[in-house]
Amino acid sequence: MAERIETLITEEEIAKRVGELADEITRDYEGKSITLLGTLTGAVFFLTDLSRKISLAQEIDFLKASSYGDGTTSSGDVRLSLPTKLSLEGKHVILLEDIVDTGHTSHYLMDFLALQNPASLKLCSLLSKPSRRVIEIDIDYLGFSIPDEFVIGYGLDFAQKHRNLPFIGVLRSEVT
Ligand code: IMP
Repeated sequence: MAERIETLITEEEIAKRVGELADEITRDYEGKSITLLGTLTGAVFFLTDLSRKISLAQEIDFLKASSYGDGTTSSGDVRLSLPTKLSLEGKHVILLEDIVDTGHTSHYLMDFLALQNPASLKLCSLLSKPSRRVIEIDIDYLGFSIPDEFVIGYGLDFAQKHRNLPFIGVLRSEVT
């Protein structure tokens, strides 16, 4: 069985959309400083590209959530395995996710961050698979809505591989 990677979103399309999101965030928070919190490990590439395009004073940090599901889908049992080191009290916080799939992880993290008394809290996700949603969640800034396909690249992995691809792709298995 050979593997083939089919491009779903090109490097150029990602760069253009990240630029648009950065402009929107820059406009919405004019005159304020913001705190960008990226989820490890998938949102690392997204955060570094987006933060450099946002023309606002900003703090950045990362947090990590783990969910204990059946390996392919997240269960509702999400836990924070690495919290942010920043104090969020009175800050304008934006949680940056790589993808919202069932919604469990983002929902858990947004609830947790709201308890830290930020001045405001919004969710920004590069990708969303709306057809997979189990728990309703509002995404304030969304890069792309995608179909129900398992995607890799630009930070997203399959078994820790393919994060370094500059585009978003779908892994296909082919009988040779
Ligand atoms: P949730 O189902 O919304 O809680 O998403 C949990 C996590 O599953 C995401 O943060 C991703 O790390 C991972 N995930 C969901 N869909 C994909 C995918 O298509 N490719 C790679 N990782 C995914």
